[in-house]
Amino acid sequence: TIVVLDFGGQYNQLITRRIRDLGVYSELHSHKLTADELKEMNPIGIIFSGGPNSAYVEGSPKCDPAIYDLGIPILGICYGVQLMTHHFGGKVDKASHREYGKALLNVENQSPLFKGLPIEQTVWMSHGDKIVAPPEGFTVDASNPSCPVAAMSDESRNLYGVQFHPEVRHSEFGNDLLKNFAFDICGAKGDWSMENFIEEEIKKIREQVGDRHVLCALSGGVDSSVVAVLIHKAIGDQLTCMFIDHGLLRKGEAESVMETFTQGFNMNVVKIDASERFLTKLKGVTDPEQKRKIIGNEFIYVFDEESAKLKDKKMDFLAQGTLYTDIIESGTDTAQTIKSHHNVGGLPEDMAFELIEPLNALFKDEVRALGTELGIPDEIVWRQPFPGPGLGIRVLGEITDEKLKIVRESDAILREEIKKAGLDREIWQYFTALPNMRSVGVMGDTRTYDYTVGIRAVTSIDGMTSDWARIPWDVLEIISTRIVNEVEHVNRIVYDITSKPPSTIEWE
Ligand code: XMP
Repeated sequence: TIVVLDFGGQYNQLITRRIRDLGVYSELHSHKLTADELKEMNPIGIIFSGGPNSAYVEGSPKCDPAIYDLGIPILGICYGVQLMTHHFGGKVDKASHREYGKALLNVENQSPLFKGLPIEQTVWMSHGDKIVAPPEGFTVDASNPSCPVAAMSDESRNLYGVQFHPEVRHSEFGNDLLKNFAFDICGAKGDWSMENFIEEEIKKIREQVGDRHVLCALSGGVDSSVVAVLIHKAIGDQLTCMFIDHGLLRKGEAESVMETFTQGFNMNVVKIDASERFLTKLKGVTDPEQKRKIIGNEFIYVFDEESAKLKDKKMDFLAQGTLYTDIIESGTDTAQTIKSHHNVGGLPEDMAFELIEPLNALFKDEVRALGTELGIPDEIVWRQPFPGPGLGIRVLGEITDEKLKIVRESDAILREEIKKAGLDREIWQYFTALPNMRSVGVMGDTRTYDYTVGIRAVTSIDGMTSDWARIPWDVLEIISTRIVNEVEHVNRIVYDITSKPPSTIEWE
């Protein structure tokens, strides 16, 4: 393992990712980790990440100084190297101007970090402070006109640092530099893979759970599915999954989830049909936020009540498909909170579960790779994101059975045609929404006054921003014709051509 200590930089997640892509396991940890805790993890190398602070300012984040004495190779990146400089008595100061973007680097001393790399290379800089004087014992390895110490090292103590960001693709040889660090300096073997990950996680889960029981809320989405299958592989029937049908699922979803997991994987899944309950609570409610709240709360109540019924097998653990990005967005010691994620919606405190979160070091695409490795079918592994409140936020305004049916049927047609056109992997999300409006049309010589269905299809990397997908017109035509012909009470189709921002992906 190479441990990355988090000092709050925006690219931190990328560092662990790049190292793992080299076949070396890597995890991000708080900079508050003590030398003893770190030693226990037995890492072959340590990386100090970048961060927004100034190393010379009182109260800026520091690491346990004993870490420098562990004898484990350390690579400081940006703030990380400035911290190292400050610690060993070198000088860090405000740069006369912030350096941001591409810069040409001059390598002056080919330390093991730069082994085999060109003397001149483009790197990505992003800093407001710079090292003015390296500490005693350190050699300046690279520089450029605005950054006299762009890289430095003390080979005798295995300490290395770079001012630029090797983890960013714009750094031309960044990946090679990380490779040099991992392989030549830390002696990594590069034999880590998803297969090892599965083996190790299974071992960990078995140790943690022993002969006790685990409950997992299964939604049929990628994350909860992968967690469930992974844990099932470790402990078999000591795992119970709970699948709550809130009546706001897509066409065929409940059946296919149940079939995949009970028959395909032979897992123990309790299906709770709570549609009546949810729809009753939602009756007459038109405000989007209120709808979301009702659905979220009801979910917790149902989960709470139903898990209490499983008394015969006392559930000690709750498994969650929390991803690395969920942790980052909910805020770590140093990263700002962007939004609070909750997977089972904030569990009541008197539910004394211990948590199992085996995916919390992974990114979405790694979870997909893991799912494939575990033999989970493509329909689940490559499933498009589906919001917790489901179709409840795609029927705008009050939810009725008739409107739910229109969304469900039109959405099924859209999905079928997108798949047929081979567009299902390149479009991030595609669905229909039902605005609360009707308009006049004519069908078979008769005037109609019926609903309009909106098609929403977007491309995105992470759902935070998106662009509308350019679905070919002939595909749109087929979709439009099929929906008005096959779904009752629809006489008009519109296509949403707004990006996010200013719109959002969902309509409510
Ligand atoms: P918006 O509409 O905010 O959606 O642009 C961004 C992404 O998040 C999904 N989404 C949700 N996912 N619970 C979820 O698990 C929710 O309440 C929720 N609301 C929106 C949305 O489908 C899109 O992928």
